[in-house]
Amino acid sequence: MVVSLVPRTTPAEVHVVKDPEYGLDGLIVLHSTALGPAAGGCRLWSYRSGDEMTEDALRLAEGMTYKNAIAGLPFGGGKAVLTIPSGPFDRDKMFEAFGRAVRRLEGNYVTAEDVGTTVEDMRAVARSTRHVAGLPGRDGAPGGDPSPFTARGTFLAMQTAAQRRLHRPLSDCTVAIQGMGNVGSALALLLHRAGARLVVADVDSARVARVAVMTGALIVPSRNILSVAADIVAPCALGGVLTGDTIGHLRAKVVCGAANNQLGTAEDGSRLADAGVLYAPDYVVNSGGIINVAGEYLGWSQEEVEARIDGISERLDHVLNLAAARGISNNLAADQAARSIIASSAIDQAAA
Ligand code: NAI
Repeated sequence: MVVSLVPRTTPAEVHVVKDPEYGLDGLIVLHSTALGPAAGGCRLWSYRSGDEMTEDALRLAEGMTYKNAIAGLPFGGGKAVLTIPSGPFDRDKMFEAFGRAVRRLEGNYVTAEDVGTTVEDMRAVARSTRHVAGLPGRDGAPGGDPSPFTARGTFLAMQTAAQRRLHRPLSDCTVAIQGMGNVGSALALLLHRAGARLVVADVDSARVARVAVMTGALIVPSRNILSVAADIVAPCALGGVLTGDTIGHLRAKVVCGAANNQLGTAEDGSRLADAGVLYAPDYVVNSGGIINVAGEYLGWSQEEVEARIDGISERLDHVLNLAAARGISNNLAADQAARSIIASSAIDQAAA
């Protein structure tokens, strides 16, 4: 079943996706289709309430609108969130049912992996719709798990941020990473190879131990990771981790990580700037995964995808320069840059 709801944020379209037979219960949010179909992953999470799920979906979809615009992709922003069924369920069948809901949107929404979903899940989705990416890549073409590409983009952004704020390469930096999941662990390996010292944390002790063995990273308890003595903090777990409280305890001078929606509120971006911390806006930093997804969906070569991921450094530089020139926080500068890309495309379309 797909039912339209009254959107809560201006241009959003919210679709309830429910199929009790297969345990499917969630939302697909199309925040914007100004630049193209709304693209953004599907999150599977244990939500405590419908409100919590809706809020997460709206925020994530809006973030995708800006992320896709800044990355220069011909996509609007969207997101799907599904709640983990409370009882036993057939995972393949549930994702096939989700795929049918995506199909009914007739290409206006393109899905892929996000937190809690895997390449296998996307294979199940692909049995119902072609509007899905993150499928196993074939013959060297883009595809598969987007997280290594997200990690690569985050690494490049971190190099830029470290040079700008600390005036040194990552080999002379200590980086604290919160979250040793798909992105965090891949980022840890890239940083280790680049010669950075690492401090890591995860609520899952097996994950954090595995990375520490491979990289020699120091493990700290999760509650301490944002306040450890480090040059750079990389949030790579969940959103909302940068708040008045955590910012007050930060010792790092750079925050550059992959997690979506790291700031508790937009004002926390100004708080970071006031504290002398360079905050690299999350959706500029973590766009590597969606660039790979876009390349897969649109049939680009892997070289094209990699060149566009390399462009993350330049795009971050542009946003940081804009913030300095306008005397605003980096997160606001990113939002303004994204909105101006969307606005100029609307002008182009009107003129055509
Ligand atoms: P994941 O689910 O593989 O990893 C998240 C990790 O964070 C898990 O190991 C989990 O145990 C850990 N974690 C949860 N709460 C924690 C806490 N309080 N302290 C320390 N660790 C904690 O997810 P993935 O794919 O690595 O994504 C990480 C973040 O990056 C998410 O916010 C996601 O939305 C974002 N992101 C991921 C992309 C991708 O390509 N996978 C693309 C863009 C953004």
